[in-house]
Parts: sequence; C-alpha cells; structure tokens
Amino acid sequence: MSAALRVDIVTTFPDMVRGAASHSILARAQTAGLLDLHVHDLRDYAEGRHRITDDYPFGGGAGMVMKPEPLFAAVEAILGEASETPVLFPAPDGEPFTQAIAHELAGAGRFVILCGHYEGVDERVREAVVTRELSMGDYVLTGGELPALVILDAVTRLLPGVLGNEASPHEESFGADGLLEYPHYTRPASFQGHDVPPILLSGHHANITKWRRQQALARTRTRRPDLWAKLLPLSKADQKLLDAHDAEQQQES
Ligand SMILES: C[S@@+](CC[C@H](N)C(=O)[O-])C[C@H]1O[C@@H](n2cnc3c(N)ncnc32)[C@H](O)[C@@H]1O
Repeated sequence: MSAALRVDIVTTFPDMVRGAASHSILARAQTAGLLDLHVHDLRDYAEGRHRITDDYPFGGGAGMVMKPEPLFAAVEAILGEASETPVLFPAPDGEPFTQAIAHELAGAGRFVILCGHYEGVDERVREAVVTRELSMGDYVLTGGELPALVILDAVTRLLPGVLGNEASPHEESFGADGLLEYPHYTRPASFQGHDVPPILLSGHHANITKWRRQQALARTRTRRPDLWAKLLPLSKADQKLLDAHDAEQQQES
C-alpha cells in the first residue's frame, strides 16, 4: 500500500475541522491509514497570555486581519524552514479550485492548508509562506475552514483505495473525458407518475452505456458551454449519439 497522504490544517476553529473530518469518507480514509490528518490550533503558535491571532488593519478600515507571526510560526513548526511541501491558502481572489488541482494534490504526498478569517491574513503570509491560493468560487465565506474541508474531501476521495466499491472517480463529472456525468436512477421504476428511462431496465449493457454517453454529452452541452467548447469537434460516434438525442427530443416536443 502507498504511504498515506499527510494534510496539516492550521485554523482558529480546530473543532469545526475535526468534527467534519470525523464522518463518512474522511473518517474512513483516516481509519484505513490512507489519510494522515493533523489539525492545528493557530492559537498554540500565538504569543502572550491571550494568544491573540488578529489585529487592526494598518491604514484603518473595517474588520480585523490575521497577524503574520502565528502563521509563520505554525508553518515553520510543521514543515521546518526549507520545504517543498505546498502551503495552500483558500482565498476568494485565488485560482479556481478544480478537479484537476484535486488530482495534483492527491499525488503531492503532503500539503498544508492555512485557514483565513476576518478580513483575511496579513499579505506577508501570502507572499512569503503560501505557495498556492485556491478559490471556491465567486462568493465570500466567513473563513477558510469550509474551503479547507472542500479541498480535503475532493482530494481524499481520489486517493487509491478510499472509495472502495463506491463511485469510481474516473466515471464522474470533470473526469478524463471532460464531460458532466449522466443521470442516475434507482428503485422504484415508477414514482408519482415519473418513470425511469426504459433503456435502464432493459438489461442491454451496450445500449445502456450508449444512452449514458448520450445523456452526458447533451447535459454538458446545455449546462456547461465552457466545457463543451473544449470537446469540439466531437468524434463521429459522439456526434451520431447527439444527433439521435436531438431527433428524439424534437419528436417529443
Ligand atoms: C471573510 S473572508 C475575507 C474576504 C476578503 N476580505 C475579500 O474581500 O476577499 C475570510 C477568509 O475566508 C476564506 N474565504 C472566503 N471566501 C472564500 C472563497 N470563495 N474561496 C476560498 N476561500 C474563501 C479566505 O481564507 C478568507 O481569507
């Protein structure tokens, strides 16, 4: 078995991170020795009786800023002075977090996540300590804990052996084929007048595979024109599937 992925998360809300990481896949990955998670309370690296981690912004303005000293000290204690280990900082103005980055991090062996709060962290931390800034999307969250958990979850489920017989990450949205995933159905076959597509009940595996590909193509075209543009031109087989889908839709309308 390959070595566990080691992730260190530095936060002022360690219980929030530990709590979320003690359920479902994150808990199982730790129990199975595939994820080695260390959650650090930033206050342990703050000086003084009150262990203060934030201060007023130079230049004035609303809100507080996280002080540089505890964050520098935490990373130094965790990694030592010179390290190649990625130090991630979730930030609304960072690079958009994607499945491709999750794959990269799953192969990194180790990384650290620093959780910001208030107005954010002193810029010197971003300049001197952080190696990559990742955004969860164009909205502002209260702190970096939820983004850290999002990153941790997306990465952990890609580690070999973590998912067991659950969904394979290769067949999901944003996988190697660049498509969104096809729709799923389970029992009952008919529910409140809504029927499962008959092909899924046919037992004809080749046709089911074709139908799923057709649905994934149509769904990606409609929902994500940005992903769709990268898939063009389609292969002849995919174009045929999509044409058949469009003809069927036209007949229905
Ligand atoms: C209240 S936010 C600070 C927002 C900052 N003042 C701004 O306008 O960009 C506090 C912390 O939450 C995290 N955060 C908030 N929104 C985020 C997002 N969309 N993606 C990643 N991290 C986010 C960051 O670590 C940030 O430093």
